[in-house]
Amino acid sequence: MFPIKEIRKDFPILSRKVHGKPLVYLDNGATSQTPIQVIDVIVDYYSNYNANIHRGVHNLSQEATDKYEEARHKIQNHFNAKHAHEIIMTSGTTESINLVAHGFASLLDKGDEIMVSALEHHSNIVPWQMLCEKTGAVLKVIHMNDEGELVLTEYSKLLSNKTKLVFVNHISNALGTINPIELIIEKAHQVGAAVLIDGAQACPHVKPDVQALNVDFYVASAHKMCGPTGVGMLYGKEAWLNKLPPYQGGGEMIADVTFEKTTYAGLPHKFEAGTPNICGGIAFGAAIDYLNAIGFDNIAAYEHELLEYATEKLMEIEGLKIYGTSKNKTSVISFNIEGIHPYDIGTILDKLGIAVRTGHHCAQPIMAYFKIPGTVRASFAFYNTKEEVDILVAGVKKAKMMLA
Ligand code: ALA
Repeated sequence: MFPIKEIRKDFPILSRKVHGKPLVYLDNGATSQTPIQVIDVIVDYYSNYNANIHRGVHNLSQEATDKYEEARHKIQNHFNAKHAHEIIMTSGTTESINLVAHGFASLLDKGDEIMVSALEHHSNIVPWQMLCEKTGAVLKVIHMNDEGELVLTEYSKLLSNKTKLVFVNHISNALGTINPIELIIEKAHQVGAAVLIDGAQACPHVKPDVQALNVDFYVASAHKMCGPTGVGMLYGKEAWLNKLPPYQGGGEMIADVTFEKTTYAGLPHKFEAGTPNICGGIAFGAAIDYLNAIGFDNIAAYEHELLEYATEKLMEIEGLKIYGTSKNKTSVISFNIEGIHPYDIGTILDKLGIAVRTGHHCAQPIMAYFKIPGTVRASFAFYNTKEEVDILVAGVKKAKMMLA
């Protein structure tokens, strides 16, 4: 049995009240909550060994450096990267994607093609549009169907020897669709294109193996995985990371600086200019330990039960439509009620202590496809319960009664 009672005790925030009601936190797609095991690591860092890393001979700096590099190894092991230096610490998924997009500016020629999917978050669209503006490359789009799945026959037709890079999310933040990334990667490689997978929404639910996937770049954020905000990772195959130029200039990314010429440090430091989020990186490692101790198979099975239960109960509400109905989806439910604006439902749910996200979820092309301004999104984590689903369903019914 999934030890839900014990797990919930790890999250202090889950016992607080909002508007006098027990918090029902269903906005895990936006950010996950933080267990005490990770909070303790943050407190320990600032209480005992706060120092800059890779710089000092003094004891504190060495301790902080060791812990930070230990976290990099935890991330390496978690994602099964071949080398620790293939893990670049960043401020999050958005920076990771921008780093790669910046690097590809020197590798693309006018008329080259790069390919995005219709299911992307803006952070996996806009940096590539900026890259196209810089280079004259052309952005192609893999379209989706009414279930919120990518149309793979179309994908195959779009690929050609002009395609240099494909970037697709592992799981859609707005709909929860799990994309067939194995197939997407394999097909892209057949025409010699590289692939970047945005794993921001996937990593709280699954444990990707970058070597088994044979993916070129994989990116994620700690704060979706029970870690702190402001830290994330870029995995890149060594050969690709060596090909890309540095993203930012500054301290720690150099081998040698003169006014005539600067040479750059090797991996991973070439991409890590400036003082990083040291505490965040260490806490990211602790969050990975925490999730692995629960086990991703256990998390996936429990969340699947929650998803099925919530889908069934919400579908009983007349006029409620769920967007994103792929069989292969994670614990995200995006919905609307006929004739009611999602924002109004979200506002009433908030008054009942229920946190959901409303709006376009930084995925306007998906909303344009369905011709809607946005949705109400309930995104479940392994610390949510069926009782909370019941509270959500009752809240939606109440909102419908008040607003219809
Ligand atoms: N990308 C986050 C979300 O989907 C913020 O809510």
